[in-house]
Parts: sequence; C-alpha cells; structure tokens
Amino acid sequence: MKILAIESSCDETSVALVSKSSGQVEVVSHVTATSLAQHIQTGGVVPEVAARSQLDYLHPTITQTLSEAFQVRLPSGQPVLENLISQIDAIAVTQGPGLVGSLLVGVEVAKTLALIWGKPLIPINHLEGHLYACFIKDPASPKTPKLPALGLIVSGGHSEFVHIGEDHQVKFLGGTRDDAAGECLDKCARLLNLPYPGGVAIARLAEEFRNNNREIKLSTLPRPLTHEETLDFSFSGLKVATSRLVQERDDLTTSRIAAEVEQAVVDVLVSKSLVSVKTQKPKSFLLVGGVAANNNLRKTLKSSLKAHHPLIDFHTPAVEYCTDNAAMIGARACFINQSINPIELKADPGQKIK
Ligand code: KG4
Ligand code: ZN
Repeated sequence: MKILAIESSCDETSVALVSKSSGQVEVVSHVTATSLAQHIQTGGVVPEVAARSQLDYLHPTITQTLSEAFQVRLPSGQPVLENLISQIDAIAVTQGPGLVGSLLVGVEVAKTLALIWGKPLIPINHLEGHLYACFIKDPASPKTPKLPALGLIVSGGHSEFVHIGEDHQVKFLGGTRDDAAGECLDKCARLLNLPYPGGVAIARLAEEFRNNNREIKLSTLPRPLTHEETLDFSFSGLKVATSRLVQERDDLTTSRIAAEVEQAVVDVLVSKSLVSVKTQKPKSFLLVGGVAANNNLRKTLKSSLKAHHPLIDFHTPAVEYCTDNAAMIGARACFINQSINPIELKADPGQKIK
C-alpha cells in the first residue's frame, strides 16, 4: 500500500510517498520546502506570506517527490506518467489544525489529484500525524510503539497529552490553558533578541551554557502547575517571569537566561509526563512535535521514564520527523485508512483532538 501525503499547515510545504509493511511505515521519498527564510526577517510566521509560498512550492514538491520515488526524470510542469500514478493507492492530506490559507492550498490540491487520478482521499489531523512519526521506520530505534500509548505533543501551537488506543483512536487528556511550549520558547527568545524559530536558538545557547557551567543549578524561573495532579499546562507565566529576568538581572548572560528558560520548560514537561503515565498506565510513551527535537527534553524525559516506569517503552521520532513533515501524515493515514468523498473535504484550521 503506497500513500502520497501532503502537509501544508504552516510554513513547510512537504510531500512524501510512504508504504506500510509489518506495522511500520517506510518513507519511499520525501521532499520538504519551507518559507522559513522569509519569516526569519519578520521574527515570526506571516500567514499570507506562508500561504502564497505554499502555492509556489507545492507543485514542484509533488513532482520532485514522485520523480525521486520512481527514479525517473520529471521536469517540473510535465504531466506525471500514468503508470506511476497507478502505483499510488491513496492520497492523504492535513485537514487541520493550522493556518487557513496554508491548509487550503494542500487540501484543494489533494482533492483535485484524488478526483482526476481516481484515488481515495484520507484527511488527517496534523497533531495525530505528529504522533505517528513514531511509527516511521528508524534504524536507530527499531521497535514499533506498543498500544495503548500515551502521547505528549509539543509544538509551536500545541502542548497536549493524548491516549492512543489499540484501535488507533486518539483521545485528548489535557493540554495548555494558554501558551504552547514551543510558543513560550519562541516568545522568550524574542525577549532575548534571538532569531525565529526561538526554540532552536534557545536550545543552541542553552546547550553551550550547560556544557561550560555544569555546576550551576538552573532554578531562577517558576515551574507552573507542577504541584497539581492536573494534565494541563500553563506556560504564559514563564514568559512574564523571563521578561522580568531580562529587565532586572543584568548579572545574567543571554545564554544563562536561555538555559533557565529551556530547563523550566523541560522540567514542567517531564514532571507532567510522570503524572500522566501514573494515571494512564500505557505500554509506551510517545514524545512528538517540533519541541521534541530538543536534545535536553529527549534525554531527560527518556531517563526519567526509565527510572520511574521501566516497563514503559519510550519513543520519539528522528529529529527530521519531529518538525512538520508529510511522512508523518502518510504514516497516520496507513493506520486509519478512512477516506472521504473529495468534494466534501474542507480545511479545518481549528481542528481539535476530542
Ligand atoms: O511541530 P512544529 O514544527 O510546528 C507546529 O506544528 O507548530 O513545531 C515548531 C516549534 C517552534 O515553536 C520551534 O521553536 C520548536 O518547535 N522547536 C524547538 C526545537 N526545534 C523546533 N524547540 C526546542 N528545541 C528545538 N531543538
Ligand atoms: Zn506541527
């Protein structure tokens, strides 16, 4: 079964051809274009700019993905050969959540291809896609996640705990009451005059600081809601506290504050993850989303889970599949395989996990 997947929810334009065998998803080919360079200039994603770039990038990205998958030359603009199309079993596309203009481009193109090629169309929730990045074949971590699993999705717009049942149904358990973890990192980075995306800049400075100052305990910032059993998060107070540190503590360097911010976010995510597994008792724990690319978070959460819950398998995708990509959308489609009449599909910018 081969699925052509399209992801266009924000500033990445990503297309992948994936296939599933024995419970794991293999990426046959995968191409991602991004308008990030334009957003670095404005310090954040401008929705209209992202949507226009989706229009420019999507056609060449699809053409390149197919030409790499089938190892043929397809100069852009040339119609894709019919015998290649016949090898695709279905088309998957991100329906939401995301930026409306960006989503519309992917959804309308996917609908059109499904209609003219006569393929089933599978709409995918972007957050569920992030979870299924853990089912992509990874030589560094060959085990497939066992279900039921508990998922922590941490991205630029979301911080959510979810339950994934043996039937692959995903259910919401708890989430942020205000800012998402990635949003908090991005906003704190702005306070420190660091470039967008702030999470990446903070991670780089924090690692440098930790390597040079192992003796310093990073504890100047609050760890919100960690004294309550709730699976909710609240990160907006951390941003306010960071702003105060920047204004009032001339003695702290930028890299020290970056390390403080990263550590506070990591401590909150790890502490809540331990609460979540205590109540849910899953067979595996999946850490996914852009913030899951953070080395400190990956290492700390893996070792804390191992120490407190050694029977729960920890999974996190290879870094390239943590941030937005189409392979994860194809991976989710391999497991749900619920198609929709293309005419009826509408982009859903506010789509939630229920
Ligand atoms: O999942 P994603 O690519 O897009 C959304 O769906 O939001 O996540 C983007 C978020 C941004 O907030 C970015 O700062 C953060 O992921 N991020 C990181 C790292 N790489 C990306 N945060 C911390 N450490 C990283 N290495
Ligand atoms: Zn995402």
